[in-house]
Amino acid sequence: MKKPVIFITRKIPEAVLDPYRKSFELLMWDEEETPVPRDVLLQEAKGADGVLCLLTEKIDREFFDTAGSLKVVANMAVGFDNIDTEAAKEKGVVVTNTPDVLTETTADLAFALLMAAARRIVEASDYIREGKWEHWSPYMLAGSDVHGKTIGIVGMGRIGEAVARRAKGFGMSIIYHNRSRKVDAEKELDAKYKDFNSLLEEADFVVCLTPLTNETRNMFSEDTFKRMKDSAVFVNVSRGGTVDEEALYHAVEREEIAAAGLDVFQNEPICADHPLVQLKNVVCLPHIGSSSTETRTKMLELCLDNLKAVFNDEPPITPV
Ligand code: DGY
Repeated sequence: MKKPVIFITRKIPEAVLDPYRKSFELLMWDEEETPVPRDVLLQEAKGADGVLCLLTEKIDREFFDTAGSLKVVANMAVGFDNIDTEAAKEKGVVVTNTPDVLTETTADLAFALLMAAARRIVEASDYIREGKWEHWSPYMLAGSDVHGKTIGIVGMGRIGEAVARRAKGFGMSIIYHNRSRKVDAEKELDAKYKDFNSLLEEADFVVCLTPLTNETRNMFSEDTFKRMKDSAVFVNVSRGGTVDEEALYHAVEREEIAAAGLDVFQNEPICADHPLVQLKNVVCLPHIGSSSTETRTKMLELCLDNLKAVFNDEPPITPV
């Protein structure tokens, strides 16, 4: 029987692919760093039965209109704001994502970013590299404490809860805002539900982990930053689209908030001359939330297992 044709939109290691070669005919964009050009993506989708894509690909209505006999799109991310799921549904194409396998790794990064912004880790490291450390002094590079403070988690999904567990270990009080109450987290972590504005006003650390949707786009705006404490640290590990970046820039620059840690941006990749990168109390990372070797491998394997399930006429493991 003819094997299903899968197009993979980036070069991934042969060791990961090898076990799946008996199930699929695998075609791949042969670059590790550079995304597949749009015209190549559309051309390849025409002949593919399944596509394994990354968050760098816009899987929109045009894509689904072009694709011929496509059955499934496996997105290598938990977020799927790059995919027009309505169009997929209309065309009967299954869409899958990669929840769970990246939860703890992404929570580690969120907490690392929170710590780095609070304790000025990047700035302090640069201080030595730039040859500025000449003396020790009482308030040299003094940051703010993390232990004993209040963390406000916006978006209490799996990653939110994993961040809350870390915060509990650091002796923090946990408040959260979410579409629905999280009774287990309230019981186990003593997390307290707050409306959005109360969370902004009470939290020392505001951590954005909400998915990007029409409702959450630009939810962190001039008004929200004004509501935060002037000592607040804002952390975003979800999607850049949740933040009005100009408002964030002004809030930090005008010292309306103390610092920010950002793993995601409105338009990625950002350049070195992006205004937020110019602020010394903003730590910017290139969207590496789930980037440990172990987790990235698990994400790819989950994509391939989802594809396998669909072509074996089984329910996908993690449909969106
Ligand atoms: C996701 O899975 O949505 C992450 O942003 C990718 O690391």
